[in-house]
Amino acid sequence: MKKLLIFLIPVMLLWACNTAEKKSSVERIPEVEKILAQMTLEEKVGQMAQVTLDVITVGANQYHTQEPLTLDMDLVRKALVDYKLGSILNTAGGKARTLEEWHYIVSTLQEVAMNETRLGIPIIYGVDAIHGTTYTAGATFFPQQIGQAATWNRELVRRGGEITAYETRASAIPWNFSPVLDMGRDPRFPRMWETFGEDVYLASQLGIEIVKGYEGPNNEIGSPYYLASCPKHFLGYGTPYSGKDRTPALIPDIELHERHVPAFAEVIKAGAHTIMVNSGQVNGVPVHASYRLLTELLKEELGFEGLVVTDWQDIDNIHTRDRVASSQKEAVKMAINAGVDMAMIPYNFDFCDHLVELVNEGEVSMSRIDDAVRRILNVKHKLNLWETPVTHYSDYPKFGSEEFINDAYQTALESITLLKNDDNVLPLRKNARVLVSGPNANSMRTLNGGWSYTWQGSNIDEFVEGYSTILDAVEAKIGKNNVVYREGVRYTPDAPYWADEEVDINAAVRAAAGVDYIILALGENSYCEKPGDLHDLSLSENQVKLANALAKTGKPIILIMNQGRPRIIRTIEPHAKAVVNAYLPGNYGGLALAEVLFGDYNPNGKAPFTYPLYVNSLVTYDHKPSEKQDRMAGMYDYESDFAVQYPFGYGLSYTSFEYSNLVLNSEELTKGGEITVTVDVKNTGSRQGKEVVQLYTSDLYASITPDVRRLRGFDKISLDPGQTKSVSFTLKPEDLAFVNKNIEWVTEPGEFMVQVEKLTANFNYTE
Ligand code: BGC
Repeated sequence: MKKLLIFLIPVMLLWACNTAEKKSSVERIPEVEKILAQMTLEEKVGQMAQVTLDVITVGANQYHTQEPLTLDMDLVRKALVDYKLGSILNTAGGKARTLEEWHYIVSTLQEVAMNETRLGIPIIYGVDAIHGTTYTAGATFFPQQIGQAATWNRELVRRGGEITAYETRASAIPWNFSPVLDMGRDPRFPRMWETFGEDVYLASQLGIEIVKGYEGPNNEIGSPYYLASCPKHFLGYGTPYSGKDRTPALIPDIELHERHVPAFAEVIKAGAHTIMVNSGQVNGVPVHASYRLLTELLKEELGFEGLVVTDWQDIDNIHTRDRVASSQKEAVKMAINAGVDMAMIPYNFDFCDHLVELVNEGEVSMSRIDDAVRRILNVKHKLNLWETPVTHYSDYPKFGSEEFINDAYQTALESITLLKNDDNVLPLRKNARVLVSGPNANSMRTLNGGWSYTWQGSNIDEFVEGYSTILDAVEAKIGKNNVVYREGVRYTPDAPYWADEEVDINAAVRAAAGVDYIILALGENSYCEKPGDLHDLSLSENQVKLANALAKTGKPIILIMNQGRPRIIRTIEPHAKAVVNAYLPGNYGGLALAEVLFGDYNPNGKAPFTYPLYVNSLVTYDHKPSEKQDRMAGMYDYESDFAVQYPFGYGLSYTSFEYSNLVLNSEELTKGGEITVTVDVKNTGSRQGKEVVQLYTSDLYASITPDVRRLRGFDKISLDPGQTKSVSFTLKPEDLAFVNKNIEWVTEPGEFMVQVEKLTANFNYTE
């Protein structure tokens, strides 16, 4: 034993020093250090705690509150003065508020926090401003992230971030729980639409843009026009084994590092100030209790110096749901020692009592507390909250302006993805007569999806007056006289999101007799998080029935899918002449769709995920070679090989593009070197169009079975008819790297293939 100790003590000391040294790298800001030095334990713990607005509002619970919304000043004082809380989140009564209401809420809270507490530390208010400022009436709504990803347009994604930051600051709020950088690799997951899709490079690139949009080009979050972003949910949320929200994920280390870490690593490098933790469990461990993921990986290896906030009630969940901690207090100890800095409690103050006790009992060290509080106060300081604790809406004249609307509209236009266009049925003539049908045809709720005025995106009528549904937009485009509307199926009012019902399908069929085309808008109703779980990815039976009934009329069907994830359409797709994926395009999505359908805008969106053909085949484009084993085709039926409805990166245009002259400047790449890939793209059609040029590489042989191909670059260009542009990409050895069996990023020497559209070229990498 003694011998063991003699050996262990120096090792432990070394480890302790290393950890201390690494942890101490968090920036020391003199003003913050001065405050920290004066703080009592209770004041420090209070800074680490956050409750939801319902807790301090008169008559509030999750869905209702007394209107007009009124803060309960006794409860406000209990939270901010007695418990010394450092943060409040969310809306109250479950719905969006006006700019005036937000100003009242945040300024009242800041007055109490700054004038009635010993140290006068301002609170930091946070909300989910997910595709625009979710909880502010009149804010500019963009397509949800999955639609933004379909634009493959870095500039538009950054612009969306900037506008959201501006309008959130106009709402007096400086902290946004966005973006979602979980991987959208499983279409069953109810939050797939909150992601940038299935590819880690695309998600990383757009992640950097949106974070820079939120925080400013130099992360100048002290400016009243930017705010602190909160990439989430670290780490491995998005691919639970069952596809259902907050259920166990089994992710080998190699996969975790290859596909889940990089987007977070990139935004940390890009300066993101806060990060939210994954509410689920990875390999049996609740992430909120994972020292390995939160401290060793996030804070030490990735060097994250900002503040780590929990997700909703997730410290409790370690005890009540995941049963890893036998009491709530034990759960608090686990989470804080794992590396959590702030608890989104969110309904009571027990966390504070437990944490004070734990420190007094020596179960949580004061240095851990100081580290957490330093991270929190640093963010507050950088937000300039002491000088400008509350921003005022009158200083934000561009809130909801034409200028902002145009950008949201442009993003919606560029997100729309044309997946099929047999016989060039689209664009439609403007003098055509059309039947508009389907449960998504006349709904603002379905265009927006969740996180739109309310959490589930339901009950939004009071906020969406004046915006156009698909039906409104089609009528505006070709005149009411040319449009007949029969919904055929509707989402059942006041029922779970997945419930729909027939509404006289025969009437829709009869109406088709007198029209030239059928615009059939199907998909999903809005949902968010756990309530959006499903048992079957197939499109609903009623919607399939409607599509089949309309197909029998023989009229050409234009199928519009308005959905958060790709619902299976295999059996009805052959009946459609054209298929358009609109995703969740937001308030301007109806207008944007009509522009595309009637040819006033040439579509250029590209699928940010593989659209599956079967519910049992949810394989992504970057799969291993063994997903396709048809070399013995003819002898056996290999029908079950990798087969998709529409591939990743796919999307049609009303013009045509020709790729030629794929040239590498060298066939040899060496360590520290780079190789330039150039390709010519010509618009061979008769109208202007945008094209997303996509660069893929394949590692032909590697020590870990290589993915068949990986996206390594993309560029969106605009071409006039007849015009040719030359597009170049640079590849460095590290761009080709993968995670090997020792969990190291390596580029192994050997042959690589470059692919742009159907053109390929090979090169060798030597060390
Ligand atoms: C979600 C988070 C969100 C948080 C605060 C949670 O339920 O998982 O994404 O930021 O609530 O609203």
